[in-house]
Amino acid sequence: MLELAIGTGRVALPLAAHGVAVEGTDASAAMTERLRAKPGGDSIPVTTGDMTQVPASGRFGLVYLVFNSLFGLLSQERQAQCFAGVARVLDPGGVFVIECFVPDLARFDHDQRVQARSVSEDAAVIEVSRHDRVRQRVDTQMITFDGQGMHLRPVAIRYCWPAELDLMAGQAGLQLAGRYAGWDRSPFTSASGSHVSVYQRA
Ligand SMILES: C[S@@+](CC[C@H](N)C(=O)[O-])C[C@H]1O[C@@H](n2cnc3c(N)ncnc32)[C@H](O)[C@@H]1O
Repeated sequence: MLELAIGTGRVALPLAAHGVAVEGTDASAAMTERLRAKPGGDSIPVTTGDMTQVPASGRFGLVYLVFNSLFGLLSQERQAQCFAGVARVLDPGGVFVIECFVPDLARFDHDQRVQARSVSEDAAVIEVSRHDRVRQRVDTQMITFDGQGMHLRPVAIRYCWPAELDLMAGQAGLQLAGRYAGWDRSPFTSASGSHVSVYQRA
């Protein structure tokens, strides 16, 4: 298996501990260093690079990209490149599994959102977002006020609906083989807030 955007190994490490041969790619060498520091982290091969290029050698029966990380690619073009790159490294019959949220535009009022994420005697965390409905992009600052001052943590995503994901997959030669509301394979419905989708290479 190959995990794109493997991060600190939250998913890959338990898989490896269960005997699954898993490797990963990530753009951030710092995240890979954190993976390496965890028990078992040395045993997982990780390539540093951009997931649109799928910088891994060899072929895989399963490639996965979870935790909405596809939406971290900030244009349709880059997301489509990712599907194409995955198709190139999949075995015939191999599958690409993604986990993404279903956009909920009711979160925004006039394309804005301000939310108190946490408030205590020592600190407050406020989330401030702007939504661009044409680019399907949300820019967020998580702003922390605490005894040390104010700290910013920016997050940007380019969301898409399941139908657009299916189209990008189709262009790459991947077909939807299953869609679930979660990892327990519960049925995906119009009320589902997220999905696990399985695309298969012909
Ligand atoms: C939210 S973390 C998810 C980590 C892990 N997959 C998990 O589920 O815990 C997102 C990861 O994507 C990586 N990342 C962001 N942009 C990337 C890109 N263009 N190519 C490869 N990795 C990227 C980040 O470095 C980070 O490790």
